[in-house]
Amino acid sequence: MNMMKPLVFVTRAIPEEGLTLLRKQCDVQVYRGKGVIPRRLLLKNIKHCDALISLLTDKIDADILKAAPHLKVIANYAVGFDNIDLTAATTKKIVVTNTPGALEHAVAEHTFALMMAVTRRLVEADQFMRAGKYHAWNPSLFLGMELQGKTLGIVGLGRIGKGVAQRAVKGMGMSCIYYDVLRDLDFERTYGARFVSLNSLLRTADVVSVHVPLLPSTRHLIGKKELRQMKPTAYLINTSRGQVLDEKALVLALRKKWIAGAGLDVFEFEPKLAVGLGRLKNVVLTPHIASATIEARTAMAVIAAKNMLAVLHGKRAPNVVNKEVYDDYVY
Ligand code: GLV
Ligand code: GLV
Repeated sequence: MNMMKPLVFVTRAIPEEGLTLLRKQCDVQVYRGKGVIPRRLLLKNIKHCDALISLLTDKIDADILKAAPHLKVIANYAVGFDNIDLTAATTKKIVVTNTPGALEHAVAEHTFALMMAVTRRLVEADQFMRAGKYHAWNPSLFLGMELQGKTLGIVGLGRIGKGVAQRAVKGMGMSCIYYDVLRDLDFERTYGARFVSLNSLLRTADVVSVHVPLLPSTRHLIGKKELRQMKPTAYLINTSRGQVLDEKALVLALRKKWIAGAGLDVFEFEPKLAVGLGRLKNVVLTPHIASATIEARTAMAVIAAKNMLAVLHGKRAPNVVNKEVYDDYVY
């Protein structure tokens, strides 16, 4: 690092543990306004900074990067990085990093929270209690689906998908099938899991859980045609990205009872819901909080800071997502 301290801009206050690490070696400016930083302020602040910590709600496109002549690294405070134009960043030799390995437990647990909430109708039942509607025990009150012995279909077998599979097989007595662009024989051996096509997974699984990154190839991966293939008794869980799912088609599927229910943490037009989704009983909705544990959010801040400091020191960052940025990258 040169004599002048690098200037870091952070688009939202992240846990102090990460900021403290940065402050030791950098000048750190944090946007303290309410909500997502307005684009105009992002454009203004990015002009002078050497490094940026961004959130998944900050759209870092070519125009933003054009306005950032000194920028060397973007440390995204998320595992997903679909908010960043990677091609434009690579062209400008800007290293982009993410925060894997910090949040897979939190997201896998939240996936289960949604799965159990929707299969056991927890939210409906809670509302029923609060409304004073519970008058007598009833053999058919809020019947749901048992997970024991059921088949979980994992779409996208990354760290989070594996974390969900592990909990399902070891904890809940479920069996596991999965679909991904790559097979993982170790995983198959460890969890007795079976690799299947997406069509076969949709037709077989009792719970379909989506864990792919958002890419051009995964946008609307689950649409009308896919939902129609699922069993009418099956549930769909999405803690990945909203655009992986055609949400309008999902509303139709839930209304027409093509599937039994859904648990969603992410939305196609976040923070808005597709028309009608909020009125359906057979869905459980949470506001993109799958990684929202104190443990995960703190670890994410530290990882983002370490990635950033590595780049500023001229070293390889541990979690680079655009590896092509390095001259010796082998395609
Ligand atoms: C959250 O959605 C993340 O990508 O970390
Ligand atoms: C339920 O409360 C039971 O005792 O079966």
